[in-house]
Amino acid sequence: MPQFDFNTVFSRIKDLDLKASFRKIGAFLMPFSSVLGIDIGTTTIKIVELEQSGGEVSLKNYGMIENFGHLERENAAIQSSGLKIVDEMTAVLLRELLKQMGPTTKEAVFSLPAFSSFVTTMDLPNISEKEFKSAIPYEARQYVPIPLSEVVLDWKVLRPIPGSTPNRIQVLLVAVSQDVVNKYYRIAELSGLKLKALELESISMARAVVPSDPTPTVVVDVGSRATSISIVDERDVRMTHDIDTAGNDLTMAIARGMNLSPVKAEEIKKNYGIASIQSYQYLPGLMTPLIDSIVSEIQKTSKRYLEKTKREVKRVVLCGGGVIPPGVKEYFERELKMPTELADPFSNLSYSSDLEPALKLVKPQFSSSIGSGLKLFVQT
Ligand SMILES: Nc1ncnc2c1ncn2[C@@H]1O[C@H](COP(=O)(O)OP(=O)(O)OP(=O)(O)O)[C@@H](O)[C@H]1O
Ligand SMILES: [Mg+2]
Repeated sequence: MPQFDFNTVFSRIKDLDLKASFRKIGAFLMPFSSVLGIDIGTTTIKIVELEQSGGEVSLKNYGMIENFGHLERENAAIQSSGLKIVDEMTAVLLRELLKQMGPTTKEAVFSLPAFSSFVTTMDLPNISEKEFKSAIPYEARQYVPIPLSEVVLDWKVLRPIPGSTPNRIQVLLVAVSQDVVNKYYRIAELSGLKLKALELESISMARAVVPSDPTPTVVVDVGSRATSISIVDERDVRMTHDIDTAGNDLTMAIARGMNLSPVKAEEIKKNYGIASIQSYQYLPGLMTPLIDSIVSEIQKTSKRYLEKTKREVKRVVLCGGGVIPPGVKEYFERELKMPTELADPFSNLSYSSDLEPALKLVKPQFSSSIGSGLKLFVQT
């Protein structure tokens, strides 16, 4: 079994400060009082425990475990593309994190990375729900490039956008390979968890970071291995795709450019980012070409959306650990010329104000895990 070097940050919240400010986030859907939202990324696993009471959702517990092995050995990522998840090792990490968090529930919703799914939007006549359900597999056959017997299908009828054609509906179709679904069940079982639902990461993320603003928004998740770019309009994901440039590439560019070990380069990236400083004058220049390629992809995606729907993307929400280094948010804002914010998926949860200093440093990274936990509580 491969060895993982890991570090954890977690917080067990014993006494919730009920005076903390919170917002009502909608009627509850399921009779769950408490649920775990879990995001298994390439280098970090993020877990939140959310609790619902009287229509409000509070943060009971959160934790993150980070694997540093990938900086030394390329094949030591928690997940890698090609659907190769090291199930047993992932479960070891999950169990370790859960042990430290000590959650009160075993019920979990996992988010699924985009590379393990096929996503498209279908344009259909506005038929009855019954007709619609029988039409989906037939329609899906035209869009999904693998045999339907090998995938699990999920879909969502999207809210109409202003100016859309009357009597037509837009449906977001998600197809996930049966093998991937089985893997997640296996990881849950090996970790002693009950898998209640699986959801595409970008859908979870939109629920957490664009909960109420109907403005066309681009949500960008810069992870370690991949960056996902999604257009969220009227609170629904309308387009989503992945590119391979992400946080780990920035680290490797620093390592090569400054002739440092990846571990040292990672430390420098986290401390200084692309903010210009005297001691490392060349640092921003090593990273900006990579960020520029993400910027260019965001611009292309926004343009495609404008051409397709005549709706202009007006703001940017940045998620994932890759957007945390100093100066990154400001750089995106300057290049994209749109209001840009670091995601705060905790803003709809009640939690003790004592946690704020620690959470402040990791907020964008918890977008998917919080969104998947909220799936069972929030009507979307
Ligand atoms: N405090 C921090 N400051 C700066 N950068 C950070 C910080 N924490 C994490 N990162 C960077 O964020 C990236 C990891 O982000 P994240 O946890 O979102 O990735 P992941 O979900 O594991 O990866 P992926 O989504 O690609 O599978 C790494 O490149 C890491 O260097
Ligand atoms: Mg991720």
